[in-house]
Amino acid sequence: MTLKRFPNAANVSAEILGEPLKFPNGRVAPNRLMKASMSERLSTYAPEDPKKHGLPTEKILNAYEKWGNGQFGMVITGNVMVHPTNLEAAGNAIIFQEGDSSERRSLFTQWAQKTKQDGALAIMQISHAGRQTSVTVNPTPWGASDIELKTDPPGSRYGKPIGLTTDQVKTEVIDRFVYAAKYAYECGFDGVQLHGAFGYMLTQFTSPTTNKRTDKYGGSLENRNRVIMEIYDEIKKEIPVSSGFLVGIKTNSKEYQDEGTTVEDAKAFCEAYEKKGFDFVELTGGTAEKFKFEHERESTKIREAFFVEFADVIRPVFKNTVVYLTGGFRTVGAMVDAVQRNTTQGIGLGRPVTAEPDLPKKILSGSVPSAVQDAFNPNNIIYQIMASVSQIEEMGRNSLEKSGGNVMDQISDFSDEQVVAGFEEKLAKMFGGNAKKTVEVEA
Ligand SMILES: Cc1cc2nc3c(=O)[nH]c(=O)nc-3n(C[C@H](O)[C@H](O)[C@H](O)COP(=O)(O)O)c2cc1C
Repeated sequence: MTLKRFPNAANVSAEILGEPLKFPNGRVAPNRLMKASMSERLSTYAPEDPKKHGLPTEKILNAYEKWGNGQFGMVITGNVMVHPTNLEAAGNAIIFQEGDSSERRSLFTQWAQKTKQDGALAIMQISHAGRQTSVTVNPTPWGASDIELKTDPPGSRYGKPIGLTTDQVKTEVIDRFVYAAKYAYECGFDGVQLHGAFGYMLTQFTSPTTNKRTDKYGGSLENRNRVIMEIYDEIKKEIPVSSGFLVGIKTNSKEYQDEGTTVEDAKAFCEAYEKKGFDFVELTGGTAEKFKFEHERESTKIREAFFVEFADVIRPVFKNTVVYLTGGFRTVGAMVDAVQRNTTQGIGLGRPVTAEPDLPKKILSGSVPSAVQDAFNPNNIIYQIMASVSQIEEMGRNSLEKSGGNVMDQISDFSDEQVVAGFEEKLAKMFGGNAKKTVEVEA
């Protein structure tokens, strides 16, 4: 098949993207390209049976075998949940003490191995959905406070959160992140990324829109950031520094909410992460109430990355912590430009690498100038996200061997208008023409 690609305005060498990135603890990512976290929703869902709940499946292993042959510097898993009843979606992989078993350990170990086979660092994203737990999974999830997410109609998608007591912040949040991080380490992952973006539990603490607490976890910026700092400290206590295990965080550069965290707040949070010793920070933006996987301003379109202007503001705080920027990168020209301007050190790629799991290999060898350009209406973010969900499932159907060594095996070509038309028709049927409401949040 002939894939259509984004036009690459600046025809430059990709050489700089192939440079290794060194982390403060001495670990090295072989190049600057990173697979961003994307929820696979391919794990088991069995809430009544802890041992069978949230187990990664063969499909996940197959998909990561393909990314693991794509020549990434770093590969981040989709959100692995740390709480069995506070899920981003049914089908998330989960790590929790009550569900521990040799089967779970073996599956996560294979996941790490598949991911690292061509030298990428395998990083597990660990997350807690809190109030962004689907109502069908749990009508009463935890929240930093009991502030319900606004949906239309109210209560249609998410449960009504119960505000955590001070003791529960430890037992239902901190301890669970730490347990999952240690598990990831024991299963051979090179590090974890705390999901501190898009309105999930850690952002429910950092954002004044969702944190109305009056204890040490609420109020000042320092207090709202405390839960993240304590998770970091506890992880460091559990995992020997000599192991080189990396701890990073994905954080919003801006929340896009009235009274939400501003870019100046984000800068202050990042300053704290740098001081604390985080190995890497991935900058992004938005929440489930304000979804931002697209351009808001004309000025950022030229540089492709949605949050590039915020990254420029935040960047100076990072001296040792390695910074990645994710969202919008499609051409080698824009990626190289962002690195050369020192806006970021690493480039995160989401949707482009579900269309093409070996995009880094092709970019670094100079054989392609850009990502595949899908034929969706650029404003229809929901369909684009569903397309990526579908491509991840397609990647998972066969092992690399069964795919004849071809990482592109089975993956739909959404640069083909007819394929897009067929997909849109299928979605419209599935959701009764109301896909936008039904699939509000995928991240
Ligand atoms: C299908 C899908 C699932 C996603 N799931 C997650 C997730 O689990 N955790 C996360 O931090 N971001 C998630 N994201 C957001 C991506 O990591 C990335 O920030 C976003 O897609 C913008 O990057 P892009 O323009 O390169 O796609 C998801 C995105 C997509 C398309």
